[in-house]
Order: sequence, then C-alpha cells, then structure tokens
Amino acid sequence: MSLSWKSRAMLLHICLLLCAQGVMLQQFLLRPQNSTVLHGTDASFQAEVDGSWQVMTWHVRGFLVLSVPVNDNVTSSSEQFSARFCSAGDTRCVEFTIHNVTRRESGPIMCTVLGEYGSKTAQLYVEETGTINILGGNVTATQDQEVAFQCVTNTWFPAPTITWTLNGHAVDSSLPNTTSVADGDSFNSTSILKFHAVGNTIVACHATVPTSTNPLSSSVFLGVVPKPPDWTVLIAVVLSFGCFALLVLLILGIIFCCKRRKEKQSTYQDEMTRRVRTLSQISSVSVPGQSRGQVNTGFELEGQTSVQAPSELSDHSSRKETVYAMPDIVNSNVHVYANSVNQSGIRKHRHVTIV
Ligand SMILES: *[C@@H]1O[C@H](CO)[C@@H](O)[C@H](O)[C@H]1NC(C)=O
Ligand SMILES: *[C@@H]1O[C@H](CO)[C@@H](O)[C@H](O)[C@H]1NC(C)=O
Ligand SMILES: *[C@@H]1O[C@H](CO)[C@@H](O)[C@H](O)[C@H]1NC(C)=O
Ligand SMILES: *[C@@H]1O[C@H](CO)[C@@H](O)[C@H](O)[C@H]1NC(C)=O
Ligand SMILES: *[C@@H]1O[C@H](CO)[C@@H](O)[C@H](O)[C@H]1NC(C)=O
Repeated sequence: MSLSWKSRAMLLHICLLLCAQGVMLQQFLLRPQNSTVLHGTDASFQAEVDGSWQVMTWHVRGFLVLSVPVNDNVTSSSEQFSARFCSAGDTRCVEFTIHNVTRRESGPIMCTVLGEYGSKTAQLYVEETGTINILGGNVTATQDQEVAFQCVTNTWFPAPTITWTLNGHAVDSSLPNTTSVADGDSFNSTSILKFHAVGNTIVACHATVPTSTNPLSSSVFLGVVPKPPDWTVLIAVVLSFGCFALLVLLILGIIFCCKRRKEKQSTYQDEMTRRVRTLSQISSVSVPGQSRGQVNTGFELEGQTSVQAPSELSDHSSRKETVYAMPDIVNSNVHVYANSVNQSGIRKHRHVTIV
C-alpha cells in the first residue's frame, strides 16, 4: 500500500511539474505597458520570463536593436541601447534601457523571446521641451499704463502649460491668452499677458510639460516711471474757459454795437423830426395868416386883459431855442421877444423880427 501511495504521489508531482512548465512556456510579462519620459532622459522596460529561455530580442520602431542570449554577452546595435539582468545571476528578469531618449525612439517597444513565448509590445512616449522667450525685452512704462507681454515657445511636445509670475507671484491662469498651434510633430505656443503697470516688476513666463521637473522660464524687467501731471485736463479747462470768455465778450460786443446803432438812428430821427418841426414852425411864423396863425394871437391886440396861456409861452420859448440851435438851416433870422411881466393887466410887448 505504501509503495503504491509513493508511486502515486510521484506521478502527481511529475504531472504538476510538466503542466506548470507547459503553462509558463507560453507566457512572459513586459512592464510598463506605457512609458512617458522627457527627451534626453533614459527609458527602461522589464521583461519577466519564467522558465528556461535562450534568446531575447528588443525592437524599437520596428528595428531590431538588441539581442540578449541568456548565457552570453548582449549584442546591441548602438550604445544607446543596453540590457542587463534585473538582479545579478537571476535570468528571470531582463531590463532593457534606451539612453538619452529622443522623439525618434517614441512608439512601440517590442520584446520577443525565442520559442513559443511570442512577443509583447509597450508604448514609449517622449516629451520634448523647446525654447521659451518673452519678446521685446525690458520695457519701461508709465504708471497705470496698460502693458502687454508676449511669451513665445517653440518645438515643445506636447503643447506646454504656460504660466506667468509677476515678482514671483503667480498670475491667475485665466488672465493670459494662450494659443498653441501644431508645427510638424511639435507645438508652438503664444501667450499674451496684459495688465496695468503699478511698479517695477520682474515679468516671467514659465513653460512646462508633465514629465519635466523644472519648468523653463524667460523673464524681462518692467520699469515703471511715475505718471506726469495731467496737463491735458488743465489745458482743456483753461481752453474751455477762454472760449467761454471770448464768446461772452463777442456777445457783449454785438449787443453794444446794436444799441449804439439804434441810439444813433433814434437821435438822427429825433433831429430830423425836430428840424422838420422847426422848419414848419418857422414857416408858420414867417408867413402870418396861414393855417398856424393862431400861434401869434397874443401878439395882435394891445390892451387885451387876457393872459396868455403858459403853453403858448413855452411854445414861444421853445421856438426861440430851436431857432438858436439850428441857425444854419433857417433861411431867415427870427427874433422873438416875449415880454410878459405880470399877470394882471400889465401889457406885454412881443417883437418878432424876421430877416
Ligand atoms: C496606455 O496608453 C494608451 C493610450 O494612451 C491607453 O489607452 C492605455 O490604457 C494605457 N495603458 C496603461 C496600462 O496605462
Ligand atoms: C563578455 O564580455 C566581457 C567583457 O566585455 C568579456 O570579458 C567576456 O569574454 C565576454 N563573454 C563572452 C562569452 O564573449
Ligand atoms: C544625447 O543625444 C544628443 C543628440 O541626440 C546628443 O547631442 C547628446 O550629446 C546626447 N547626450 C548624452 C549624455 O549622450
Ligand atoms: C486670444 O487671442 C486670439 C488671437 O490672438 C484671439 O482671437 C482671441 O479672441 C483672444 N481671446 C481672448 C479671450 O482675448
Ligand atoms: C533687463 O533688466 C534687467 C534688470 O534690470 C537687467 O539685468 C538686464 O540686463 C536687462 N536686459 C536687457 C536686455 O536690457
């Protein structure tokens, strides 16, 4: 019984070993499946093979670049590719490394193990940092002036994240206007930041891609000079006041001129009417017995007790005045003497001389 038990256990053990070997022959692992690295760094992949194997090969971009015989030295197409056992003497794990990786090596990385293991493929992504530059260099601005800075990045992959700092303080990412355009297999970006100059500022633009540890930067110096006094307002005020004053003067001048003209015209009219009146009166005096003979009523009779009306007296005097005032127009000299002394019964003498 014991022998039969032993033989049965032996058989089972052999079977298990064979079965396990059969499964392991078909499989190996390639890690990582995706790798993203920065241009210029190293990219590594590990192949874990269980069981016995003889040769392992690595293809990059479809080209066989390296061969690893399990019992011999590695054969490599270039110094850029190397392979070693993950731990010395352990053939189950091989580490393949691409040194100083460039975007040429990005793409599928294929590992093949001789026999029925077949092939495994991983993906390599290579990010690239390019150039960064703030255009225009150092800038001088007056206080409160709006200034604009343009940051340009070239040949980055993928499109970089661009951030700005003012004197080391981060600027809100919503403020700059950043656009990226593909140029071949890389990206060119432009970021424009506008703000009002407050004081002297170090304006810096930073660009980064996910794998880069330190962003690349470009910075310029913004020098701010104080705002000159605002003469424009003063000038505007003075000018407007001046214009207003001129307008007022002009209006006053026009009014004054109009008034004077009117006055002149009215005095002229007065004169004219006075002259006409005088002439008519004179004519009435010089030619008695005409329509206005009434004027000389007081002159006719002697011993008349009635007193002349004061209006007529004044009329006489005014007539006299007029006559003296306008001697040149009158053709004949008129002398009027009014001699009224008393109201009661005193006789008056009036002499009118017409020459
Ligand atoms: C590898 O990258 C591809 C494409 O970006 C993605 O579909 C896949 O899920 C990634 N695999 C792993 C294991 O991250
Ligand atoms: C492997 O390389 C080392 C040094 O590069 C050399 O000494 C050794 O002989 C090589 N082995 C074989 C099997 O060629
Ligand atoms: C990396 O590769 C570039 C060109 O591909 C080369 O100029 C540079 O010297 C290399 N650097 C190293 C450390 O091998
Ligand atoms: C950003 O700049 C682009 C081109 O310079 C312009 O078309 C777009 O309107 C700008 N966007 C904003 C929010 O200013
Ligand atoms: C810009 O200003 C900084 C700081 O004042 C100075 O160090 C730098 O030389 C200036 N650059 C140019 C191009 O003038």
